Amino acid sequence: MVYSDKVMEHFTNPRNIGEIEDADGVGEVGNPVCGDVMRITIKVEQDRITDIAFKTLGCAAAIATSSITTEMARGKTLDEAMKIEKGAVAEELGGLPPQKMHCSNLAAEGLHKAIEDYRAKNTNS
Ligand code: FES
Repeated sequence: MVYSDKVMEHFTNPRNIGEIEDADGVGEVGNPVCGDVMRITIKVEQDRITDIAFKTLGCAAAIATSSITTEMARGKTLDEAMKIEKGAVAEELGGLPPQKMHCSNLAAEGLHKAIEDYRAKNTNS
């Protein structure tokens, strides 16, 4: 299997790893295809993602897509971040092998769940 240089770079040097302790939103997802899991935590100020971190127990593609997704989402409004889809994540990484496309589901879904969690807790904001 051939990964792009960018996938390998984000896998070996992932950005935003960890967990925000006083997070405003938390998203947890499991991949039904392989059983891998990820957790994204976000901080939100004035409807914008000001901080984001992830923990992923998964393959190289899952870790690289988690890393790039946090970079893509940081600084975006919640509406903009909700539009980040798995296809865009894979594209940003220079593509993924076809059999690894399912791995890019995790990060986009985790991000969307974290935003939904924030919105559920802040229905008046
Ligand atoms: Fe499970 Fe890639 S094999 S996320």
